[in-house]
Amino acid sequence: MKRERLFFCIPLSLLTLFIFNSPSLMTTAQNINSSTSSCNRTCGGISIPFPFGIGQKHCYLNDWYEVVCNTTTTSSGNLLAPFLSKINRELVTITLRNSIDTSYGVVHIKSPVTSSGCSQQPAVKPPPLNLTGKGSPFFITETNRLVSVGCDARALVTNIESQIIGCESSCDGRDNKNKSRSDKICGGYRCCQAVITADKPQVIGVNLESSDGGDCKVAFLTNETYSPANVTEAEEVYSKGFSVVELGWFFDSRLRDPVGCVNLTETGIYTSAPSCVCEYGYFSGFGYSNCYCNNIGYRGNPYLPGGCVDIDECEEGKGRNSCGEQTCVNVPGSFRCEPKESGKIKPVIQGLILGLVLLFLVLGIWGLIKFVKKRRKIIQKRKFFKRNGGLLLKQQLTTQEGGNVETSKIFTSKELEKATDSFNKNRVLGQGGQGTVYKGMLVDGRIVAVKRSKALDEDKVEEFINEVSVLS
Ligand SMILES: *[C@@H]1O[C@H](CO)[C@@H](O)[C@H](O)[C@H]1NC(C)=O
Ligand SMILES: *[C@@H]1O[C@H](CO)[C@@H](O)[C@H](O)[C@H]1NC(C)=O
Ligand SMILES: *[C@@H]1O[C@H](CO)[C@@H](O)[C@H](O)[C@H]1NC(C)=O
Ligand SMILES: *[C@@H]1O[C@H](CO)[C@@H](O)[C@H](O)[C@H]1NC(C)=O
Ligand SMILES: *[C@@H]1O[C@H](CO)[C@@H](O)[C@H](O)[C@H]1NC(C)=O
Ligand SMILES: *[C@@H]1O[C@H](CO)[C@@H](O)[C@H](O)[C@H]1NC(C)=O
Ligand SMILES: *[C@@H]1O[C@H](CO)[C@@H](O)[C@H](O)[C@H]1NC(C)=O
Ligand SMILES: *[C@@H]1O[C@H](CO)[C@@H](O)[C@H](O)[C@H]1NC(C)=O
Repeated sequence: MKRERLFFCIPLSLLTLFIFNSPSLMTTAQNINSSTSSCNRTCGGISIPFPFGIGQKHCYLNDWYEVVCNTTTTSSGNLLAPFLSKINRELVTITLRNSIDTSYGVVHIKSPVTSSGCSQQPAVKPPPLNLTGKGSPFFITETNRLVSVGCDARALVTNIESQIIGCESSCDGRDNKNKSRSDKICGGYRCCQAVITADKPQVIGVNLESSDGGDCKVAFLTNETYSPANVTEAEEVYSKGFSVVELGWFFDSRLRDPVGCVNLTETGIYTSAPSCVCEYGYFSGFGYSNCYCNNIGYRGNPYLPGGCVDIDECEEGKGRNSCGEQTCVNVPGSFRCEPKESGKIKPVIQGLILGLVLLFLVLGIWGLIKFVKKRRKIIQKRKFFKRNGGLLLKQQLTTQEGGNVETSKIFTSKELEKATDSFNKNRVLGQGGQGTVYKGMLVDGRIVAVKRSKALDEDKVEEFINEVSVLS
């Protein structure tokens, strides 16, 4: 019983050693799964991360994040392109917030340009970019500018109350203007620009006023910065038909909240290095969370359970070359350099050595206990031998006939036990007052009678010895 328990203990202790010594094993085995793993995550080569999604309802957070993969006709044929279905605009990219340095996730969409007098068309005025609606997570970021290209063009943004945002561009009197300034950005010569100063607007229209009405001119919102050197002709912008506009978005946390992230709004600052961080706020009538994977050591999608995954710095990035002669060891969120000989094998060897030491210790104790038990038995036997008159008998036997070994011999209890088949009842020849007589057979085949004394009084020992002595 005891032995079994000890042996069960040893493999268990080895096992725990292995586990404690390799923490990286447990984190890399992290299961990245969510109910959305079966969803199609690309369209036309553009990746569509959750909360955005294509197809079934469970693939995206709500209707505002639904993406439809539609065919579009371009000069190079029919292509698949993703559309944000609720605002009906083609998507160029979807970007998750990836660090504390950015403020929110963004999407880039294609937005039609406003034009006047291009290709004999009098005017093209698309409806305003309208992102309002119950629970809309989108807004126009401050990165965007209003840009107008052409001569004698006057562009204005509409639908932003209490502010007039606009600019004018002209093609004459260039020398009068500040040359160095207007060469770097669109400052009035051939093109002009204006920053959108409103805070997270959701509706913006672009208007174009023209004094001459003749030449082609365009106005649009864009995330790009233009200068007179690289702005194209108004006609070219017109035939392209769209500009790229940057929209910010938040994660509507009314239905679900990202799990396992640190609340940065609550703690203000974090001291340990969490894998996932969220800020919380209100926008457009709903509570949002605005999360990112801690860019120091993690990446992935904070809106999926276990979505922020540890970067193996030893395989890529910083750790790869910075350890020099030492071995790079990846740990959650970071890496460390260790002396060469203590690579990944070290914990295993440590565990093995400790396990072996434990094994020998246990075996040693077990052996010691056995030895002590045996020793105690021998001492006890010797004591009994003495108490039962063994010494007296020995003495008598040696004094008689000079110790004739042939006629008298002292047997050990073990030998007698063997000869009588463990004092088997079948071997009993008779019962006496002082003991039982058994028929026995020695190892050499001789038949003997064995008398086994009953519990004796101390004073009867001598009598018994004498009897034995006489008999022999
Ligand atoms: C992932 O989740 C789906 C649905 O919840 C489940 O059917 C599937 O077995 C999971 N896969 C893994 C590898 O856990
Ligand atoms: C994903 O979408 C593409 C394009 O629509 C399609 O060819 C592909 O079969 C889809 N894959 C799945 C798993 O639905
Ligand atoms: C996708 O294409 C279909 C058919 O051409 C059209 O009815 C639908 O409105 C388009 N959806 C979007 C989001 O553009
Ligand atoms: C924007 O869209 C919403 C809902 O679709 C509508 O109520 C609102 O009038 C629109 N705003 C403008 C300026 O078109
Ligand atoms: C031209 O630039 C100089 C300095 O670069 C500035 O002092 C001046 O006011 C500018 N003139 C105009 C007309 O913007
Ligand atoms: C504007 O958007 C386009 C398309 O996503 C992108 O390639 C470009 O880098 C963006 N420009 C800036 C200045 O962010
Ligand atoms: C135009 O030039 C400016 C400054 O040289 C540069 O910052 C900008 O990215 C360029 N824009 C485009 C669309 O190439
Ligand atoms: C995060 O912390 C802020 C400030 O304490 C709190 O108002 C908000 O409810 C918290 N959000 C979550 C999801 O815990």
